[in-house]
Amino acid sequence: MTNNALALATSAPSGSSRRVPFARTVIGSDARAAVDRVLASGWVTTGQEVLDFERELADQVGAARGVAVSSCTAGIELALRGLGLPPGARVLMSSDTFCGAASAITHAGLVPVLCDVDPSTALPTEPLIHTAVRAVGGVSAMVVVHLGGHPVDVERAAAAAGLGLDRVVEDAAHAFGTDVGARHVGSISRATCFSFYATKNLAIGEGGMVTTDDEEFADELVSSRLHGMSRDAWRRYLPGATWRYDVTVDGLKANLTDVQAAIGRAQLKRFDGDQARRAQVAARYDTLLHGLDGIRLPPRPAVGRHAWHLYAVRVGPEFALPRDRLMERLAARGIGTSVHFIPLHRLTWHSRHCVIPETGLPGADAVFAETLSLPLDQNLNDDDVDEVCTALWETGEER
Ligand SMILES: Cc1ncc(COP(=O)(O)O)c(C=O)c1O
Repeated sequence: MTNNALALATSAPSGSSRRVPFARTVIGSDARAAVDRVLASGWVTTGQEVLDFERELADQVGAARGVAVSSCTAGIELALRGLGLPPGARVLMSSDTFCGAASAITHAGLVPVLCDVDPSTALPTEPLIHTAVRAVGGVSAMVVVHLGGHPVDVERAAAAAGLGLDRVVEDAAHAFGTDVGARHVGSISRATCFSFYATKNLAIGEGGMVTTDDEEFADELVSSRLHGMSRDAWRRYLPGATWRYDVTVDGLKANLTDVQAAIGRAQLKRFDGDQARRAQVAARYDTLLHGLDGIRLPPRPAVGRHAWHLYAVRVGPEFALPRDRLMERLAARGIGTSVHFIPLHRLTWHSRHCVIPETGLPGADAVFAETLSLPLDQNLNDDDVDEVCTALWETGEER
């Protein structure tokens, strides 16, 4: 099962009896009204609404441009293609992340090189990056993931890989609202890719955005997200516009619709309040789970602001039950949980198509054995959090 499927299996579809779902997608009346407005307008695919969403999101992260795409995965692929690397060039990435970035690398004709992670943070450290790069004699680019919303110092990671920031693509699927020092994620590297998948902290259902400070790069993405056409349908049908177009690159069909953008714009207006609630939920978990034997709480970032996309604890050997049995026990009490992530070298296809160090990836394996993502979204109330914590304490006391 893919990780997305795993997350869905443990979250609550509407009508489910789960008491505390892993993550809920709430599309409010403001977003529904915006969708009605777009549906009534006579233009429902990529148009003015997408342009407005791109502008608003780029402003929020402090980037010159935003280019809306159909998913974060498509955004990573388009950004990597835009780097113009030779076929088969090596791209460094964390072994402990969702498979989408690895697929994006191979779809772009490049080769993922897996880097191990520090078991305490589940992120690659500078020495681990250095070792992974040296083992393959250098890499041409890297994908940096801010796992769970925990900020990574992108500049230091790039330097450890021997790369400039123009060769970095960020997988910021979990990191909208994350800061690294004084800078917002989305304004640091060549291209930052966000996800608006149903369980993300800015949820549309599906969708993504690439932000960049490079105007030319952004213009190329606008074309490559739509077959490489020089002009999309909306622009061709504007008054006075020409119907003619050329195809200048081998693009994808990966545009976002105005219907999706309308939802995104409404969610963006709520975002700061939603993030404040996510931080409160994380703080409440911290307080209520403190001192529970065998449960390690998520580390706090050394620099910057966590986006709290995930609240992932570690279930150590001192806990009463192993992680998987604890998940079953919580599920029986109506509490949805998930695991982020099955490391890439444990997935059949990626184990055959990624460069994996001979020494294996012990850090990623150690995290995988123990990590457990608890319910987290901005709609959880204090009673929901208390219920999850009570279930964990009662299970822990069975020892
Ligand atoms: C870390 C990470 N990167 C990328 C993705 C892919 O996002 P999308 O579904 O928008 O392609 C996900 C989705 O779950 C993810 O968790």
